[in-house]
Amino acid sequence: MTAQGRQRRGQALLFDPLTTKGTAFSQQERRDLGLLGLLPYAVKTIADQVAHSYAEFSSRQDDLDKHIYLRGLQDRNETLFYRLLSDHIEEVLPIVYTPTVGDACRRFSKIYRRPRGLFISYPDRDRMREVLRNRREQQVDVIVVTDGQRILGLGDQGVGGMGIPIGKLSLYTLIGGIDPARTLPIILDVGTDNVDLLHDPQYLGWRHRRISDEDYYAFVDDFVTILHEELPDVLLQWEDFATAHALPLLKRYRNRLLTFNDDIQGTAAVALGALHGAVGVAGRPLSQQQVVMLGAGSAGIGVLEMIRQQMVAEGLSETEAAERIWAIDINGLLTDDRADLSDAQRRFAQPASRVTGWDGRGLADVVRHVDVGILIGLSTVAGAFTEEIVRMMAAKTDRPIIFPLSNPTSRAEAHPAELDEWTDGRALIATGSPFAPIRHGTYPIAQCNNVYIFPAIGLAVTAARASRVTDAMMRVAATTLGEASPALHGAGQPLLPAFADLPEITTRIATAVAVQAVRDGVAPAASDQEIAETVRRARWTPDYQTHQPPEATSPALSGEK
Ligand code: NAI
Repeated sequence: MTAQGRQRRGQALLFDPLTTKGTAFSQQERRDLGLLGLLPYAVKTIADQVAHSYAEFSSRQDDLDKHIYLRGLQDRNETLFYRLLSDHIEEVLPIVYTPTVGDACRRFSKIYRRPRGLFISYPDRDRMREVLRNRREQQVDVIVVTDGQRILGLGDQGVGGMGIPIGKLSLYTLIGGIDPARTLPIILDVGTDNVDLLHDPQYLGWRHRRISDEDYYAFVDDFVTILHEELPDVLLQWEDFATAHALPLLKRYRNRLLTFNDDIQGTAAVALGALHGAVGVAGRPLSQQQVVMLGAGSAGIGVLEMIRQQMVAEGLSETEAAERIWAIDINGLLTDDRADLSDAQRRFAQPASRVTGWDGRGLADVVRHVDVGILIGLSTVAGAFTEEIVRMMAAKTDRPIIFPLSNPTSRAEAHPAELDEWTDGRALIATGSPFAPIRHGTYPIAQCNNVYIFPAIGLAVTAARASRVTDAMMRVAATTLGEASPALHGAGQPLLPAFADLPEITTRIATAVAVQAVRDGVAPAASDQEIAETVRRARWTPDYQTHQPPEATSPALSGEK
């Protein structure tokens, strides 16, 4: 039984999305559980129901309509929802999550049907514990929380940001096998600075400007403290916070509870995973590469931090690793004579003495002077990887590794087809947004989608009962993903696996991460074999349970939860 062992009957059973089977209740169950007459006579299998729902889904023309249909199905019957998703994973991923979920966030108040998760609104701040205790299920393994301020590339969406935790947790279940009854989406509604929303009569959030930073951090601190008292073992994943808040929050809480920020750490791990595959094909390890990063914002710095750690894990000293990393932002190369760098950026500043005599400090200058093997873009600057720069790089290395990772597609630093042409097919490419296969549809391009990592982290910490997410756990996730790179096994293959293979690869990644958690001393001791078994058993699958009639005499089993 999925819904934390509760025993229900009649209407309560039929209308509980976690326990219902709809028309798949057998005649025996209908008689035993007070369902007689509540359903049409025919008994369907889950396969019949999936076929029916998929036909309905397919009849919707518009992606947002499809999203709304699936969200409705999720609210009616979660088992069926996840079975449909599992059977059509490649097709439904972009509907349940990016890019369609962005539209769903923008139109959240217009398409709102039924509540899901928790809305922790600033005016209710004195009753935060009560809000948390009103959650659907008492036991929770994974929470995704946002404050809606930086939703994908769409900026401040206020309460509409709730679409993101809901969508993301669907993927924790679909890919990572987290029991849907044990997931909880949360939005911290601290107002919005989106003027259109403030003036929209349909807006469902707290109609107020965002609160001051002082009030904000106090509010988040209350949230984390009370949450930790209520659910000390839960994984808290931060999602789509504004850059200015994301890093301070992660820094503040990462050593105090089981938590990680997917935009920072998940992005870095996926990029590192794709890099593993790429350097394997190129035949030159990461620690022997020169890396150039265009963009030194939260995503760029997060990726560089993980690259640096990996170089050190491969045997370089901190200084040797730093010497191989060249970061460029809107003002040019990060050098130690610049006064405008944050502490996090300063870690990647090159000594100014290394660049004396250069004509300039832009991307073209760096590529001209440095033996660059890896070029990554997280700058939001469309077309920044010009033909001249790419050809210059391709002249220095056999297999240039080029990742234009900025989203959305319109902001990508280069189009994969251009990179392929300018390097005579030698470039090893991964992108941030999805691109159609190149070379007349024969060569699929890897998309650095965080879905390759976060469900595995959720499964690993849940199965291993880990208390922290360490950097080493994130790196192991990346290397294990990299080892599964199809490009290592044949020319013309992408750097990252197909989405349809994700559940199986996720189990592998989760096992490696759980083993690392034990090694790092943040999970109870267990052998590698035991961990592999526990991870496999921890996976929830979308199958209907056979319902037994509740024993009316036992108080523990009667009625409501
Ligand atoms: P951000 O705004 O924090 O950082 C942007 C950086 O680019 C800044 O350092 C800025 O100085 C630099 N930049 C801007 N114009 C430039 C120019 N003309 N030349 C050189 N540098 C320039 O943004 P954030 O959050 O770091 O995101 C950057 C991009 O990465 C976005 O497009 C975002 O969608 C994408 N992203 C992709 C992910 C993925 O592929 N999985 C995950 C997270 C972010």
